[in-house]
Amino acid sequence: MALSICHVQRFLPYCLRRSWIDILGLGLGLKFFGSCTMPSIHTKCRNSSYPRSSVQRFPVPDEKVSWCASWPDYKPVSYTSPDILDKPFADPEIGVRNFEPKWHHLDGEVDRRSHVGTYPIQNGIPLVRNFEPKWHHLDGEVDRRSHVGTYPIQNGIPLNPVGRTGVKGRGLLGRWGPNHAADPIVTRWKDGKAIQMDTQRPILQFVAIQRRDSEEWAIPGGMIDPGEKVTATLPREFAEEALNSESLTEKQQVELLAMLKDLFSKGLEVYHGYVDDPRNTDNAWMETVAYNFHDEDGTSVGRLSLQAGSDARSVQWMDLSSHLALYASHSCFLETVARMHGAHW
Ligand code: BGC
Repeated sequence: MALSICHVQRFLPYCLRRSWIDILGLGLGLKFFGSCTMPSIHTKCRNSSYPRSSVQRFPVPDEKVSWCASWPDYKPVSYTSPDILDKPFADPEIGVRNFEPKWHHLDGEVDRRSHVGTYPIQNGIPLVRNFEPKWHHLDGEVDRRSHVGTYPIQNGIPLNPVGRTGVKGRGLLGRWGPNHAADPIVTRWKDGKAIQMDTQRPILQFVAIQRRDSEEWAIPGGMIDPGEKVTATLPREFAEEALNSESLTEKQQVELLAMLKDLFSKGLEVYHGYVDDPRNTDNAWMETVAYNFHDEDGTSVGRLSLQAGSDARSVQWMDLSSHLALYASHSCFLETVARMHGAHW
């Protein structure tokens, strides 16, 4: 069993660890964007306490991250936040039937009534709730496919494709396996291309938000809803977090999204893959698709007045530089964007 897990991990496609454009560039002796690649080791989801809890991760040294490293004494803490259980966006627990729901009734704040009327219950479990996830597939509207390819499954439970994190269960993540997000990196030039003295390169700015959960600065991204297209998630999340669109009327929201449509139709993909996110566990992890939307002359989004909303506490235009300390792998995405535009980093 350990062998097959190791096998799957070792053969995660090489081209997803290095983007094909880099491989091609290196082959031709050229240097392209030096883009972000899938990390072979994670650090933000290891050797720390689990976010928004007092749970301490089981310490995992670098050489034991890989599932290929045999480690009989590995005893990860089991943690799934009570806040996510029974949330509409979350999967049920696997194989655990220890709750006593009031089927067909309003059960506390959870509405277990169905529009179809009475649904069948077998051995205390509604047939519709039988949880048989289709790992690696589009499972109804839930995307259980991973950007990294095939992830290992052990005893019916997915394993983190990068390796051990010191926590099993789902932590704060709703889905077993990959949890998909999208990140819009909206950029403009600072003060009509102001030059940075040391590098003699023009300074690029991006729309940054301060997350409510960790207070770290980040790209205004968010989770892709079941059935939603990435092209819809990107402007929606940007509008919610950086323009506070949820405070607008429905008509104003439609107008705003129409206004953003032009800029958001001309994006460049910067990254897709695994994210070294502090919420990752051995069985649930974040993946994202990051796009750059650049307002070259600062006349579209570059002129909008920003207002924080949804999961964002603050919002601002922030200068790109190697000194930025951002959430998860976000600095890596921004370095790629700086290189793409020949900007200061
Ligand atoms: C955030 C994204 C981030 C992703 C992975 C999501 O919650 O909104 O910005 O890339 O998590 O860390």
